[in-house]
Amino acid sequence: MSVDTAAAVAERFKELYGAEPEGVWAAPGRVNLIGEHTDYNDGFVMPFALPHTAVAAVSRRTDGVLRLHSADIDGDAGGVVELRVDDLAPESDRNWTAYPSGVVWALRQAGHAVTGADIHLASTVPAGAGLSSSAALEVVVALALNDLYDLGLKGWQLARLCQRAENVYVGAPVGIMDQTASACCEAGHALFLDTRDLSQKQIPFDLAAEGMRLLVVDTQVKHSHSEGEYGKRRAGCEKGAALLGVGALRDVAYDELDAALDRLGDDEEVRRLVRHIVTEDQRVEQVVALLESGDTRAIGPVLTAGHASLRDDFRISCPELDLVVDTALANGALGARMTGGGFGGSAIVLAEAADVETVTKSVEEAFAAAGFTAPRVFEAVPAAGARRVR
Ligand code: GLA
Repeated sequence: MSVDTAAAVAERFKELYGAEPEGVWAAPGRVNLIGEHTDYNDGFVMPFALPHTAVAAVSRRTDGVLRLHSADIDGDAGGVVELRVDDLAPESDRNWTAYPSGVVWALRQAGHAVTGADIHLASTVPAGAGLSSSAALEVVVALALNDLYDLGLKGWQLARLCQRAENVYVGAPVGIMDQTASACCEAGHALFLDTRDLSQKQIPFDLAAEGMRLLVVDTQVKHSHSEGEYGKRRAGCEKGAALLGVGALRDVAYDELDAALDRLGDDEEVRRLVRHIVTEDQRVEQVVALLESGDTRAIGPVLTAGHASLRDDFRISCPELDLVVDTALANGALGARMTGGGFGGSAIVLAEAADVETVTKSVEEAFAAAGFTAPRVFEAVPAAGARRVR
């Protein structure tokens, strides 16, 4: 995010609200390298931050009023939405404003005296692309209010509050990965996160130095209808944990998987969900070990195995995501997988720098031949987590 963007967002704030904002903050979207749907099973994930950010210009208010505006609604022609902090109530809002106001609600619920704010938001994180545009909105507002109201909360605490805003206020049963990624990632690193206790390790991830690239392929298939399916997967995992007598599927060790599957008998659906989660946690640990030992190219097949598991066991892929993965692999990619919640959104492709052009072209051609909407392909380099920019 450039200095110019921060200045432009501050300028727009001034036009809207008649005074300079007290500050401007940015929070990124993310891609997940490996560890999908493990975060609500107390498992491991490994996201990194994108250069795309949600930016917020914010000032405090003391009169209980919350004013919200987004440059991304109606081409910046949408009006200012005015709410009262006392009136904020879970699941009362089905619009974009539920994300920022949910954060204000969650902070107040946690006992923080947030007495209002003027907020103007502008985001470059593509919406509906599985790149955590909602988490970026939540985290940027949480960080701004944390700073302005001097709340002293750490990144992981802000992430927890944002997750609560999304679970309870917005009503989406998501895990903790996206908010933690947006709040805690560091440039040049992937974040190895244990979602049980939120312990973190920053793993250096500099593909360019080793002659590789990571591409994000946004299939342009919006995943907005996925919420019901997401909840079903989550409920199925919880059923599996209950049947196995463990607190969460994370507690099933990889070498106990066969015995656990035997104990699940003929409940084929739960068996598939359990198999995905247990093998996926193992894949995250494998990727961490490979990166730490400098064997970066060897993560490719692990990523690809993760895709097969999401497609065949967890059953959340779609023809467009499968086409990206199959085409990329057939054209020299080292590994590829869908990333994020599934049912659309984006895939990631690990490739030698020299193969990027061929891989990109082949995916674009395959989409055209299949009659799919053209995908949006860009290179992702691990960027910084949430921060104050002005
Ligand atoms: C969405 C959710 C996350 C996580 C991923 C799947 O992005 O918001 O909490 O469950 O799906 O890994």
